Amino acid sequence: MNPTSSNVIYFSSVSGNTHRFVDKLRVKAARLPVMTKDETTLALEPYVLVLPTYGGETGHGAVPKQVIKFLNVEQNRSLIRGVIAAGNTNFGETYCLAGDIVASKCQVPLLYRFELMGTAEDVDRVHQGLEQFWAQP
Ligand SMILES: Cc1cc2nc3c(=O)[nH]c(=O)nc-3n(C[C@H](O)[C@H](O)[C@H](O)COP(=O)(O)O)c2cc1C
Repeated sequence: MNPTSSNVIYFSSVSGNTHRFVDKLRVKAARLPVMTKDETTLALEPYVLVLPTYGGETGHGAVPKQVIKFLNVEQNRSLIRGVIAAGNTNFGETYCLAGDIVASKCQVPLLYRFELMGTAEDVDRVHQGLEQFWAQP
């Protein structure tokens, strides 16, 4: 497994929206492999997971397989501290559903939701929010 000490770990498919958002945060971040067959990442430090929602209106398979593979590693589940979810409001009821699912399964807070690659305001809010989040005792 590929070890990382980043405090932000994220998945982004080939369309790269989430990648563009995370890039704008200007924090050290590790991207999960795009291909499910590739070796996954091993978290070495507490981290916040940023993930987009897939699956469409049924909500089935909302959490990308690459993220499931990563979270199937016990150490990765033990170090997750929060979730930030991406999506598209066109999907209505399943907007950012992957974030709710992971937050509930891993019992960590859903910290923020944003659309596509996020607005400048989203970037500022998440940047500040993460600083506060990690400063907590
Ligand atoms: C096939 C497909 C299904 C999607 N399903 C949902 C969904 O159920 N809910 C949602 O909020 N967004 C959904 N989206 C929107 C993606 O979450 C959004 O485009 C996101 O920015 C993709 O991130 P990425 O480019 O980093 O992979 C879907 C997009 C695609 C292409």
